[in-house]
Amino acid sequence: MLRAAGVPSPRADAENLVAHLLGVERTRLGLVPMVEPALLEGYRKMVEQRAKRIPLQYITGLSPMGEIDVEVGPGVFVPRPETELLLAWALAFLECRHAPVVLDLCTGSGALALAIAHARPDAEVHAVELDPLALDWARRNAERQEYAGDTPITLHAGDATDPLLLPDLDGRIELLVANPPYVPDGTELDREVAEHDPPAALFGGPDGLDVIRLLVPNVHRWLALSGAAGVEHDDSHGAQVAELLVHHGGFVDVVEHVDLGGRPRFVVAHRTLG
Ligand SMILES: C[S@@+](CC[C@H](N)C(=O)[O-])C[C@H]1O[C@@H](n2cnc3c(N)ncnc32)[C@H](O)[C@@H]1O
Repeated sequence: MLRAAGVPSPRADAENLVAHLLGVERTRLGLVPMVEPALLEGYRKMVEQRAKRIPLQYITGLSPMGEIDVEVGPGVFVPRPETELLLAWALAFLECRHAPVVLDLCTGSGALALAIAHARPDAEVHAVELDPLALDWARRNAERQEYAGDTPITLHAGDATDPLLLPDLDGRIELLVANPPYVPDGTELDREVAEHDPPAALFGGPDGLDVIRLLVPNVHRWLALSGAAGVEHDDSHGAQVAELLVHHGGFVDVVEHVDLGGRPRFVVAHRTLG
């Protein structure tokens, strides 16, 4: 049914759904003996939803990031596996820093901020989100992680491009991460994305760079002198995002990072000392 519906990875999704229902890892499905007929009925309903191209993570209600899962559903962007690369860089950057101050711009579900707070209980983590619906999901996830024992994060409602936002954080941020909207307007997308991810989470103007362009001066303003920022971008934008940061003049060591397939995924920049 999933294959016929054009779902991009039908077998993996079918297995992930049944694993979710059984409460086991997908890799351990072969060890599960007989299942109850009632469970099969639940499974059938989930497969029907997926065949309607509802995102897998909206059906299971969960999406992983680092060592945690965040809750997702209508109104919030589903965190993507490629963002794990930005998270891995961020955690490596923090390795030799004690009690760092961290800022996650365009936090959506809170995935990056909460995964960092989970990995680094000593960090003071702030996160900014503009969309009230997404912020509700971030709040819910922040409460969930706090209840599970993680250090609480601070969520800020606001426009990350606003030059007057969060002046108290000016010059204090040692690590800044951002996964902003960066898809060029009019890009054709899979149904799961086009019909379910909020447009404000996806589109970044005619060339996809509208939000990133306006973020650059704020990134500089918030970074501490020893701080660095990692900004995720469209895989066609590596050179342009690096150029925006270099052109600003307040960053050094601007480096493009690629994924295992060689696709540019995020750019890292350090604040100049001057
Ligand atoms: C691509 S999603 C990323 C969400 C999350 N960081 C992740 O990786 O899963 C971009 C998010 O930025 C938010 N956003 C868009 N423009 C914004 C702005 N100017 N200021 C703050 N948040 C913004 C959207 O609502 C959306 O939640």
